[in-house]
Amino acid sequence: MHRISSVCIAAGFLSQTLATGVVEFPLSKRDASGAQSDIARGMLVKRDPSTVEESVYDVLTWSNGGAYYTNVSVGTPPQIQTVILDTGSSDLYFDARSASACTEPRTDSNSCRGGTFDSSSSSTYKTTITGGFNTSFGDGSTATGDFGTDVVQIGDVSLQNVQFGVARDVDSTTGFAIGLMGLGYSFNEASENIYPNMPEVLVDAGAINSRLYSVFLNDVGDATGTILFGGVDTSKYTGDLTTLDLIPQGIETTDGETVNYVYEFVVAVTALSTTANGKTTSVFSSGDASGQSYQNTLPVLLDTGSAAWTVPSSIYADVAALIPNLDDYGNCPCASADADISLTLTFGAAVPITVPVRDLVVPVYDAQTNVQNQTTNGEPLCTFMLSPGQENEDQPFLTLGDAVLRSMYVVFDLDNGQVSLAQAAVNTSTSASTSAAGSSVKIVPKGPGGLAKALGSSAVKSAAGNSYSIAPMVSTTANFALSTVGTAVGTATGTAAIPTEAAVSGTVGSGSGGNGGTATTAGASASSSKKGAAAAVRVPVFEGAGIVLGLVVLGGMGLGGALAI
Ligand SMILES: *[C@@H]1O[C@H](CO)[C@@H](O)[C@H](O)[C@H]1NC(C)=O
Ligand SMILES: *[C@@H]1O[C@H](CO)[C@@H](O)[C@H](O)[C@H]1NC(C)=O
Ligand SMILES: *[C@@H]1O[C@H](CO)[C@@H](O)[C@H](O)[C@H]1NC(C)=O
Ligand SMILES: *[C@@H]1O[C@H](CO)[C@@H](O)[C@H](O)[C@H]1NC(C)=O
Repeated sequence: MHRISSVCIAAGFLSQTLATGVVEFPLSKRDASGAQSDIARGMLVKRDPSTVEESVYDVLTWSNGGAYYTNVSVGTPPQIQTVILDTGSSDLYFDARSASACTEPRTDSNSCRGGTFDSSSSSTYKTTITGGFNTSFGDGSTATGDFGTDVVQIGDVSLQNVQFGVARDVDSTTGFAIGLMGLGYSFNEASENIYPNMPEVLVDAGAINSRLYSVFLNDVGDATGTILFGGVDTSKYTGDLTTLDLIPQGIETTDGETVNYVYEFVVAVTALSTTANGKTTSVFSSGDASGQSYQNTLPVLLDTGSAAWTVPSSIYADVAALIPNLDDYGNCPCASADADISLTLTFGAAVPITVPVRDLVVPVYDAQTNVQNQTTNGEPLCTFMLSPGQENEDQPFLTLGDAVLRSMYVVFDLDNGQVSLAQAAVNTSTSASTSAAGSSVKIVPKGPGGLAKALGSSAVKSAAGNSYSIAPMVSTTANFALSTVGTAVGTATGTAAIPTEAAVSGTVGSGSGGNGGTATTAGASASSSKKGAAAAVRVPVFEGAGIVLGLVVLGGMGLGGALAI
C-alpha cells in the first residue's frame, strides 16, 4: 500500500549526495536508550553474505482482489505472524494482541487474520518509542502504536534488535487488519527519526550484500511466489533483465529549496496497448528510449501492497470497454477472464510486459464465508483489477499493484536507485530453498552494476543513466546479530502456504503449514488482493503536457515529518 507521507528534509541534508551521487552517508539516529543493546540468544553463526529466500502467497479470500503475504516470526519464544508484502511502504509492523480490532471475533470484517503479537510474552521485546508509530495509507487505513525491538526471523535467518511497529490501534478500510512488511526506502518510514528497516537490517547483519531483493508473485492461478533478498533467480523470468532508474521526486528542504531524491519505486509506463482477438490497439505511446524526456508518460509506483492498477479515467474507459459484461462497479462474470485479451505495458520506453486478462479479472469472495460471490445470474463473480484514478495533487503518480506485477519479475535495488524488470516466467515451480545452492539463484554483489556482475553484463540491459540522489542507507550503530535457524518460517508453497481458514470454501488446504511444506501446485482457487489500497491516488497527467521528471514537487509537506539528522 502506498503510505501517505509528508516528507520534508533539513536544509543541507542532501548536499553531499547531490554533488556526487553517493549512496551512503551517515544519518544520526534517534537515541535508542539502550534498546539496541545486543541480545544474546541462540547460537550465532557467522554467515557469508548471500541470499534469504521466502515464499510469498496470495490469499484471494481476505480482501477484494487479493494480496501477497509472507510469514515471519517475532519474539522469544517465536510468535508466527503473517504480514503483507509491501513495496509501497517502509515499516515492518505487527498487530498487537491488545488492539481492539484484534479482539473482535475472527469472522469480523476488521479482525486480525495475520496473527497478533503479544509483546508481554516475549522475553526479548523492548519498547523503543512509546506512541511513536503512526502510519496511514492511500486507502484510508491507519495503524498506530509503539516502536519496539525484538528478534525477528525471516526465511532461515534470525535477526536480533530489529525495530518494528506494534499497532495497538488498527483500522483497515479494505479487508482484514493484517501486519505488514514495508520494503521501501527507510526514508519513507512512519517515524520521526529514520531507523534501519528490513532490507537494511539484512545488510547490516551480513545476511545480504546490498539493499536489493527480487519479487516473483507468479500467475494468479499459482498460489505462491517468492521474495529473494540479496539475489536474483534467473529461472523466474524470460529474456533479459532491463535496468531502469527510479524517478526522483522533488522534496522541499526546510529553507524552501526543492531537491530531487529517489525514495520510492516510481518508474514510467511509456506505452500501453491492448490485444483482443489478435488485434493490437495502442492506448497511448510516448517517451523516448534515452529515458531522459518522458513526455505524456504515466509514472507509477510499483506497489506489491496494492491489488489493482489505478489508471486515469480515459485509459480505464479504453481498456474496460474490452472486458465482456463488465458492470459499472468493475465486476463481471468470471468467464470474462477467458477472453482472448492481453495488455502490453512498456516501462521506460524499453521493457514490454504482457499481462493476460486472467490476471486482471479475479474472483470475489465473501470475506466471512470464503464462498465466491455470484452474479445476479448465478455465475461466479469476478472483479476487474484496473481502477479509475482519483485526483490527488500530492501524488504525482498512480499505483501499479499485483494485477500487473504478477506478470513481472522485479529486482528492487535500493542502493542504486534502480529496478530491473523482465517478463515473469509464471507457473514455474517455486523453490522455497533458503540457500543459493540452486544454480539459478545468483548472489548480487554490492555496488553499481552489481546485477550485471552477478549475471554477466550481457544479460542485463541498462535503459538509463543515473544522475539523481538516492535515499541513503541508514548508518547504524545497532548491533544486528544474525543466526541461522534450524526451522525456517514461511517455507510452505502452493495451497499449503495459505492459512487453512483462508481456504476457498469447498477446498481443503493441504500440507502442514509453516514448516517444510511440500511444493504443491495451487489450484485456480488461490489469490486475492487489496482493492482500493490505491484509491486515493491519481496522477494529474494525460492532458497533453505531461510532467517534467525531476521537478515533481510533493505538496503538503509538513514539518512533522522532518527527518532528524
Ligand atoms: C497520527 O497522525 C495523525 C496525522 O498526523 C494524527 O491526526 C493522529 O492523531 C495521530 N494518531 C496518534 C495515535 O498519534
Ligand atoms: C499458468 O497456469 C494457469 C492455470 O493453470 C493457466 O491458465 C495459464 O495459461 C498458465 N500460464 C502460462 C503462461 O502458461
Ligand atoms: C459478496 O457477497 C457478500 C455477502 O453476500 C457481500 O457482502 C459483498 O458485498 C459481495 N461483494 C460483491 C463485490 O458483490
Ligand atoms: C503462514 O502461517 C499460517 C498461520 O500460521 C499458516 O497456516 C501458513 O501455512 C503459513 N504459510 C507459510 C508459507 O508458511
